[in-house]
Amino acid sequence: MFPPVAPKPGDTLCAFAEIPDGGTWSRLYGEAREIFPIVVARKGERLYAYVNVCPHQFLPLDGYQGAFLTDDGDHLYCMQHGAVFRLDDGVCIEGPCGGRRLLAFAVEVRGADVVMGRWPDPPPRPPADPNDRSPPNRAR
Ligand code: FES
Repeated sequence: MFPPVAPKPGDTLCAFAEIPDGGTWSRLYGEAREIFPIVVARKGERLYAYVNVCPHQFLPLDGYQGAFLTDDGDHLYCMQHGAVFRLDDGVCIEGPCGGRRLLAFAVEVRGADVVMGRWPDPPPRPPADPNDRSPPNRAR
């Protein structure tokens, strides 16, 4: 489920041409405590969309300054304490949140625009013990 201030699936985020090849586009939706900051990186025709919140201290990767990528353009970088994330899957490979990952979401290209895709389903929660036969994600 999307946070309330997030764009809805199918909403236009920007024109594809607004995201430079090898660069990023970002936007902050909402205000005060109800925000949904996003960053979309582009490599050729591929787009990588993440919530712009670092899993270390939940701060914006770029400090809202607009700089997200390492010099090689292959990784996202958190200016706060130097965490480095793989562009492909958002996993932190260096820095204080090693192994954790950025929260990804889907975007689609429709005509000349980039639109919000589907929010990922939460992963099923494993049973608390091997004998628990309750369905995944059921409140216990
Ligand atoms: S908040 Fe990103 S590395 Fe600390």
